[in-house]
Amino acid sequence: MQHRFAFIKPLFRNLALVSLLTSTVLYAADKRDVIIDADPGADDMVALLMALASPEELNIRAITTVSGKVRLEKTSRNARLAREWAGRESVPIYAGAPRPMLRAPVYAENVHGEEGFAGTPVHEPRQGLAHGSAVDYLITTLRAAPPHSITIAMLGPQTNLALALVQAPEITQGIKEVVVMGGAHFNGGNVTPVAEYNVFADPQAADVVLNSGVKLVYIPLDVTQKILTNDARLKQVADLGNRASRVVTGILGEYSKGDMERFGLPGGPVHDASVIAYLLKPELFSGKQIHMSIETHEGPTFGETIADWYGVLKKDKNVLWIEEGDAQGVWDLLTECLGRLS
Ligand code: BDR
Ligand code: CA
Repeated sequence: MQHRFAFIKPLFRNLALVSLLTSTVLYAADKRDVIIDADPGADDMVALLMALASPEELNIRAITTVSGKVRLEKTSRNARLAREWAGRESVPIYAGAPRPMLRAPVYAENVHGEEGFAGTPVHEPRQGLAHGSAVDYLITTLRAAPPHSITIAMLGPQTNLALALVQAPEITQGIKEVVVMGGAHFNGGNVTPVAEYNVFADPQAADVVLNSGVKLVYIPLDVTQKILTNDARLKQVADLGNRASRVVTGILGEYSKGDMERFGLPGGPVHDASVIAYLLKPELFSGKQIHMSIETHEGPTFGETIADWYGVLKKDKNVLWIEEGDAQGVWDLLTECLGRLS
C-alpha cells in the first residue's frame, strides 16, 4: 500500500536538487575575479603561489607585473616562475610599468637579492609573457567587465593601475575593490621612519588610486609585521614535503634574516601573503573605515600614509584600514594552500 505521504518524497527530491543547484550557483558566484599586480619579490612569490593554489576561490584573470624592488624584467620573470611552479601556465602575465610615475625608481636588491629573492634556484621559465602591456590590459579588461566585478590584489607599487586610471578614469566601473599591501601607521615605516616601501616607491600612483574613488582595503605594516615566521610555522610548511613547500621555506629562510636583523623582529614578515589571505578568509582580519591621505611631496614624510585612525579630521572615510590579523590563522591557510600544489 502506498503511504499517504508518498507524494512528499519526489517533492523532497526536487527540493534537494534545487538546493544543490542553487548552492552550486551561489558558490560559483562567490568565486572572486581577481587581477594580481605584483613586483616579485620574495613575499610576492609566496603570495602568488598561495593565490595560484586556490582556483576554487579565486578566478585569476591575469597577473600584471611592475617595477619595484627589482627591475621589471626580473619581476616579470619571477611571476612566470611562480606560475610554472604552481602548474598554472594558462594564467596570462602582462608586464607593466618599467618605472614609477614621477619619482626615481627605488630598487631594494639589498633586501630581496639580485634576482628578487634568494634561497631557491631560478631558471628561465618555459612560457613567456602575454603580448601587450599590463596598463592596456587593465584598461580593456576593466572597461568591459560587469559593474564592480573585479578585485585587484595590489602587492607592489601602484603604478600600473594609476597609469590605467589616468588614461581611462571610467574603468573604476569594473573594479569591485583594490586590496593593497601598503602603508604604515602605528608601526612606522620600513624605508623611512614613516613610509612603507610600496607607497614610498610610487606615492603619486598610490594617490591617483586613492583619489579615483575605488573601494580600497589597506593592509599595512601594522598588520604584516605581526604575522611572522617562526620555527614551528616554517616546519608546518616544510612538512608538506612538496616542491612548493621547499620553494617557500627556501625563500622565507633567506628573506626573514634581513627583516629580523633590520627591525629586531622575532621572525620574518610575509607581507604580500596577507592580501591573498584576506581575499580567501577576510574573517582572519579586522580593521575600520578611516580617512587616509598620502604625502606626495618630497621631504622627510614623502610616501607616508596619514591614517586618521581616531577620526580627528572628520573627513570622508575612504579606506578600510586593517589593523589586526590572526597570525596563526594566516599560516594555517598558507599551509593548506601550498598543500594543494605539487
Ligand atoms: C612591501 O615591499 C616589499 O618589500 C614587499 O614585497 C611588500 O610588498 C613591504 O613593504
Ligand atoms: Ca611586493
